[in-house]
Amino acid sequence: MLEQLESLYGQGLAELEALTDSASLHEWHIRYLGKKGELTLLLRNMGGIPKEDRPSFGKRANEVKEALTAAHLERTAQVEEQELATDLQEGQIDITLPGRQQKVGGLHPSTRTFRDLFRIWGEMGFQIYRSRDVEDDETNFTLLNMPPHHPARDMQDTFYTTEPNIIMRTHTSPGQIRAMRELGENGTRPIRVILPGMCYRFEQITARSEVQFHQMEGLVVGRNIRMSDLKGTIAAFAERMFGVGTGVRFRASYFPFTEPSMEVDIECFLCGGKGCNVCKYSGWLEILGSGMVHPTVLQNGGYDPTQWSGFAFGMGPERITLLKHGIRDIRYFWSNDARFLDQF
Ligand code: PHE
Repeated sequence: MLEQLESLYGQGLAELEALTDSASLHEWHIRYLGKKGELTLLLRNMGGIPKEDRPSFGKRANEVKEALTAAHLERTAQVEEQELATDLQEGQIDITLPGRQQKVGGLHPSTRTFRDLFRIWGEMGFQIYRSRDVEDDETNFTLLNMPPHHPARDMQDTFYTTEPNIIMRTHTSPGQIRAMRELGENGTRPIRVILPGMCYRFEQITARSEVQFHQMEGLVVGRNIRMSDLKGTIAAFAERMFGVGTGVRFRASYFPFTEPSMEVDIECFLCGGKGCNVCKYSGWLEILGSGMVHPTVLQNGGYDPTQWSGFAFGMGPERITLLKHGIRDIRYFWSNDARFLDQF
């Protein structure tokens, strides 16, 4: 049995020497020194040894056990150190590698134009009134002096919904009715608001027209509002938006909800009115529709048109942005192409 013990000792040490990872070291410990390990089994069979030999065998067995335990500890320490070194080597961070560029987001060009508009109209005493995108036919058309079958309805191809008479607004003008009814207190209070928002038209998408686009409406209602107020307000706006000295031109036009109606051109801010390819060599850029609020519309808003008057205007922020930056195609606006958006 002593021979067995010695050979177990030698074999254990040799095996231990060959182990290079902590998992097999753990296994080794179970196999030799564990509760059912080989050394433990050997000691349990000590009964087979002559009585007089037992003390010396026991002493030697304990020495072997201690030696193996110590050798295991030592080998474990070596292997762990080795493993740590490998880890550090493999997981090394190359601090000389250049970092990845973080992209900083920006505001959409339409948002920027809206913010310019809000600031300017805010300075001029206008408040923002948010109307709805989903409208009823009556507010979008009829109350704006376009009864069913009115030919002007054809100018605005409409998105209908499956709900009868519920449509996507084709312009921000129905907000005039909602603002007058909500803020006017039965036609007793003056109003000075802008109405920004998305509009929808069932049109062919081209470089010039999209099925959805923003508009910004303006509405002023008061006791003595005259066309000179409209002209002065628009002229003041044009100077703030496009630069001091920017000229404006009013052309007679037609909208069912204003009378008289005018389209407004500003002096081309790219060529200073001399003529260029953006203003098509006319020196003028059309930027908005406007007019004095039609008496029928005032009435539909709850006002007595013999006592109250007002003016309204509507403009397209995308169009203004196109002109300002010389963008050739309106489809870029909602294409979500970062190469386009990054330029602003
Ligand atoms: N709603 C008109 C359009 O979409 C613009 C407009 C607004 C004209 C207010 C006059 C007054 O073309």
